[in-house]
Amino acid sequence: MPQKNERFLVASNRLPIVLERINEKWEARPGSGGLVTALTPLMKQNHGTWVGWPGVTGEEDLKSPLQDFASEQGYSLHPVSLSDEDLQGYYYGFANEVLWPLLHGFHTKCNFEPGYWERYQAVNDRFAQELLAISSKNDFIWVHDYHLMLVASGIKIGFGQRNCCYFHHIPFPGPDIFLKLPWRREILSALLDFSLLGFQTNEDVANFIRCLEAVFSDTKQRFSQGLHEIRCGSRTTRAGAFPISIDFDSFAHLAASNEVSQTTAKLKRLHADQQVILGIDRLDYTKGIPERLEALRYALLHFPDLRGNLSLIQVLVPSRQEVPEYQNLKERIQGLIGEINGQFTEPGWIPIHYLYRSLSREELVSFYLAADIALLTPLWDGMNLVAKEYCACNYHEDNVLILSEFAGAASQMYQDALLVNPHNVVNVAQVIRRAYYMHKSERAERMKRLRESVRKNDIYFWLRTYLEAAFEGKSRIGSSRRSYFYLAERCSEAS
Ligand code: UDP
Ligand code: G6P
Repeated sequence: MPQKNERFLVASNRLPIVLERINEKWEARPGSGGLVTALTPLMKQNHGTWVGWPGVTGEEDLKSPLQDFASEQGYSLHPVSLSDEDLQGYYYGFANEVLWPLLHGFHTKCNFEPGYWERYQAVNDRFAQELLAISSKNDFIWVHDYHLMLVASGIKIGFGQRNCCYFHHIPFPGPDIFLKLPWRREILSALLDFSLLGFQTNEDVANFIRCLEAVFSDTKQRFSQGLHEIRCGSRTTRAGAFPISIDFDSFAHLAASNEVSQTTAKLKRLHADQQVILGIDRLDYTKGIPERLEALRYALLHFPDLRGNLSLIQVLVPSRQEVPEYQNLKERIQGLIGEINGQFTEPGWIPIHYLYRSLSREELVSFYLAADIALLTPLWDGMNLVAKEYCACNYHEDNVLILSEFAGAASQMYQDALLVNPHNVVNVAQVIRRAYYMHKSERAERMKRLRESVRKNDIYFWLRTYLEAAFEGKSRIGSSRRSYFYLAERCSEAS
């Protein structure tokens, strides 16, 4: 853990705030999300600083809202300003048109535009310089996610010595995909400059190591005290799996509060005599939404007993709307919803209810509570926090979780969620039917165990295990289990 004379610095693409313009003035309020909740106490205790983009470009004067935030919250925000060109090249370009698709296995969607790489390097270098300028060598720096993979390298090039660690929130693919990246050597090499690399799952760690082995012939690794010790030539680092989680208690409390009970009751009344299936996702091609809709169509077509008896509520949160892939996907999804509703709607029953907006925390929890089945079918996902939030909220323990085999969360929830291959519409349709008919005693047993596991492995557990690994060089959750061990068990059961 950071000692008294060590400050705690966090760097992420976005600062953990929401900026609002009120009476011609900007005001900053804390952002939501598990990471912010988990890190805030530590940031306060250590008078830490969070470094990131404030979310607005141009010459906006943010000094006073950021200072107000610091005096209210007890830790500081250090803004890294980005111009429109930076945002286009580094964020929309390299982060969202190269790294996001590549690292989720969609290499055919990548736009390997050399100009994007130039901007990505320049912005990462700027983050590194800012971190160097505001820290000393005793401080602990924790960098988050794929936007900032070159930061430790930038700090080293600037002759800084820092304890600089990284957590990767999204999947890491194997060499067959990763090696397509024109800048594969540069990125892998930069990652080796972090002193600890945290990934979501063992699969991600194994893939990362295989990529290193493919690119650097002198890669050596051994598994010790729950972590992989990696040596490439003269450089050494450690890597491990630290599955991120949620603030279980805060979701469970809100779920049991009066604030959400009215909306939940309204939703339940609207769907009386039906089971509600819920999908909540950012509108993103990694989330497998068209595939999910096709599976529902298949289920309604082949299992007429389900018609009129279940409805899907699909919430899509607008995301990265400037990227063409996201605009095309929105049109495709809306077309499919229209087709399926047109095909199956009957007087008094609509198969799909569709919301395209961001929900407040209270609304979100009401939807979790009103759902009988959650259908979360990403084609590949770092973790999928929605799956954990859904379980935390369902204190009635009468609900079913259907989860993609390719969500990071499956490596923890595989025993009690109903796992599906999201590419297999027949499999998903059959599992929807199985969930629909699942007896309440089986639902209760499964949901009880799921909730207990999310409660035990909450965001605070994640934070403690990561920091132990960073400061003591060992991990109590580390495992050298085979990649996709939970799939092997399922596949052999099926044969
Ligand atoms: N979420 C939100 N507003 C919404 C719907 C969801 O802030 O209207 C949150 C949700 O509570 C969850 C996060 O968005 O914490 C989504 O995380 P997840 O890991 O499921 O997917 P990601 O969007 O990070 O790919
Ligand atoms: C994923 C990424 C985060 C990112 C979030 C929202 O969860 O792992 O780093 O912040 O999506 O995406 P956005 O591009 O809007 O920040």
